[in-house]
Amino acid sequence: MLELQAVGKTFGALQALRGVDLHLRRGTVSGLIGPNGSGKTTLVNIITGVYAPDSGRVLLDGKDVSRASANQITRLGVSRTFQNIRIFNRMSVLENVIVALIGHDKLGLFPLLGSVRGVGGAGVEAARRTLETVGLLKQSNLFASELPLPLRRRLEIARALVCDPKVLVLDEPAGGMTPAETASISELIRSRIAPGRTCVVIEHKLDLISRVCEHLCVLNHGEKIAEGDPRSVMSQPEVIEAYLGRA
Ligand SMILES: Nc1ncnc2c1ncn2[C@@H]1O[C@H](COP(=O)(O)OP(=O)(O)OP(=O)(O)O)[C@@H](O)[C@H]1O
Ligand SMILES: [Mg+2]
Repeated sequence: MLELQAVGKTFGALQALRGVDLHLRRGTVSGLIGPNGSGKTTLVNIITGVYAPDSGRVLLDGKDVSRASANQITRLGVSRTFQNIRIFNRMSVLENVIVALIGHDKLGLFPLLGSVRGVGGAGVEAARRTLETVGLLKQSNLFASELPLPLRRRLEIARALVCDPKVLVLDEPAGGMTPAETASISELIRSRIAPGRTCVVIEHKLDLISRVCEHLCVLNHGEKIAEGDPRSVMSQPEVIEAYLGRA
């Protein structure tokens, strides 16, 4: 499915990723954890074509996509959410999801613009189905800016989900949430978002990771230091020292 082979990335003198190998198994949810600045978001940016790796390769279904643009990667079925939520505050919740379809081959620009203006059509149908999935249908006509943070994160997920991606990468889906809100988003990911998809979840909140992930990978200073079953990974002394120990 999605494979990183010896991926390296530097920013000036800073080595953000060093020789990272990662194999995402089809249909499973993998977690990616690590201290601040360990390279998690950089890894997501490489998977999604925002950056090309300086060394190593990214393979999608066996095809080398290391030099593909972010748009090409999206069209190949890889979608993501952003750690810093990127939604249009002055658009409605529904419009935010419809415009996320722009750039996909599935629907043309003009039908989509028609959808945004309330003409209806396939874009609206897909957007409403996705809002139902994430539990935001009732809020469809609110401005995005009117949503509280946990629902803004759900909207961010809906925007990534509406094109029905094969691979979905969630960058801190519970960022800024209380424990109760985190439990609720964990359940949503586990029961409604992940099934049938290959997912990567980046999160500092280990309760979310242990509820949602079947596989866990730990980065420290740009290097993969552990990988495997979440429970056994979290009990490894090197992981506890690098990550859990600092809490
Ligand atoms: N575009 C960039 N230019 C320069 N340095 C960058 C850039 N992007 C990331 N970095 C640096 O690379 C390192 C890894 O950053 P990254 O954002 O991948 O970490 P992270 O694991 O996602 O951290 P956090 O938990 O804080 O989100 C950091 O030292 C960061 O400052
Ligand atoms: Mg990050």
